[in-house]
Amino acid sequence: IADIKGGPDEGLNRVGQTLVVAGWVRTLRAQSSITFIEVNDGSCLSNMQCVMDSDAEGYDQVESGLISTGASIWVQGVLVTSQGSKQKVELKVDKIVVVGQCDPSFPIQKKRVSREFLRSKAHLRPRTNTFGAVARVRNALAYATHKFFQENGFVWISSPIITASDCEGAGEQFCVTTLIPSSQEADHSPVDAIPKTEDGLVDWSQDFFGKPAFLTVSGQLNGETYATALSDVYTFGPTFRAENSHTSRHLAEFWMIEPELAFADLNDDMACATAYLQYVVRHVLENCKEDMDFFNTWIEKGIIDRLTDVVEKDFVQLTYTEAIKLLLRAKKKFEFPVKWGCDLQSEHERYITEQEFNGCPVIIRDYPKEIKAFYMRQNDDGNTVAAMDMLVPRVGELIGGSQREDRLDYLENRLDELKLNRDSYWWYLDLRRYGSVPHAGFGLGFERLVQFATGIENIRDAIPFPRTPGSAEF
Ligand code: 4AD
Ligand code: MG
Repeated sequence: IADIKGGPDEGLNRVGQTLVVAGWVRTLRAQSSITFIEVNDGSCLSNMQCVMDSDAEGYDQVESGLISTGASIWVQGVLVTSQGSKQKVELKVDKIVVVGQCDPSFPIQKKRVSREFLRSKAHLRPRTNTFGAVARVRNALAYATHKFFQENGFVWISSPIITASDCEGAGEQFCVTTLIPSSQEADHSPVDAIPKTEDGLVDWSQDFFGKPAFLTVSGQLNGETYATALSDVYTFGPTFRAENSHTSRHLAEFWMIEPELAFADLNDDMACATAYLQYVVRHVLENCKEDMDFFNTWIEKGIIDRLTDVVEKDFVQLTYTEAIKLLLRAKKKFEFPVKWGCDLQSEHERYITEQEFNGCPVIIRDYPKEIKAFYMRQNDDGNTVAAMDMLVPRVGELIGGSQREDRLDYLENRLDELKLNRDSYWWYLDLRRYGSVPHAGFGLGFERLVQFATGIENIRDAIPFPRTPGSAEF
């Protein structure tokens, strides 16, 4: 359907051609002599209106009620100019075939259903306009991500999903254990098959890797190893966090884009993050017009203007210290009190971009070292590190990044201060031993980008199958 109706004249150039459309019935309206069927194939938001009279081959299937909302059909007909005001063209049906009937219990009938309800129907929700549009925009953002980095000479690196290290040091990892195959008999629960010590604890020495292994929280440390050999690299893959947060911005499984730039400092990092965000947003505005108009009308009024500003205007930059001053001056009462040294909460982040800077993305830099990860480069003041977060309206923190500590002695001291074991970072320390370079990078949460670009309020609706505390079906 996108192929037929996606051109500048919305299909008029193909009038007179015999075409085939295959998709799912959105609605069916049978009038005395004529039947209208709206078909959607997911290629775009638009349906193809199929108009059929009783001469059409397969008309008996309309009469017998085989064609209903949700059924899959195959239609052949001639494209004609439409009499209706909603579309320029429609298909005058010669032949129709029901490929798969739809049981009347189909839960996604025409009436509007809540997004909460649709989360319990994650297998069927892509059949709705909203989730179809989110899936296409998500796809466009992924494509534009690779395009941006490839055009700028970055090499894509696959970072491992199973790892022994905790990049962020926040202890929010999922553990990987293995089942002993011999004990997987019918009446055994899989839990019984986890190797255990006499005390009932997991016996890591007998486990697959011989020591504890986790799902990665970030591909950054692995990315650094390739950046210090291939210069500019990026990862784009799933990451996992066992945070028990029930918010509209957190998932237990999310996709992260993590570029790492060699011979680069924090300013280069911020410039890259800005150029990247502007590039992908521009790509979506130019290539997903129909879906963006839909979001603009139904999901977030004014989103197109807001995103156009993002592409055209400079982002605000301020230091953490300046941000704290600004929050202390604010008239708004915050739930979490503000003082120098505190971690910025979502309410603070949103206040800064939404109230103080009128929806403009804001990059905050030079955070206190105590609230940031071990690998960030210490600034000359001894109190702060070369970190940056990019905040955007509605979402809050979209990007977190930093210049990395490239000096061996500083990094070793920091590991000691934080009581992290130097031995488990031996390979990471080696990078500082053998031809260290200033380098910097950032991580962007892909689902937060989808939220930002579509206006979808809840992150659970920005990924096909959300993983959150207590929910891992499908
Ligand atoms: O700020 P974070 O924790 O930074 C890192 O992981 C660095 N290692 C990145 C780097 O420098 N290479 O996470 C980066 C981004 C956040 O800004 C946020 O957009 C997203 O990842 N994020 C989440 N998205 C969804 N659900 C969660 N639970 C998230 N936690 C972080
Ligand atoms: Mg962060």
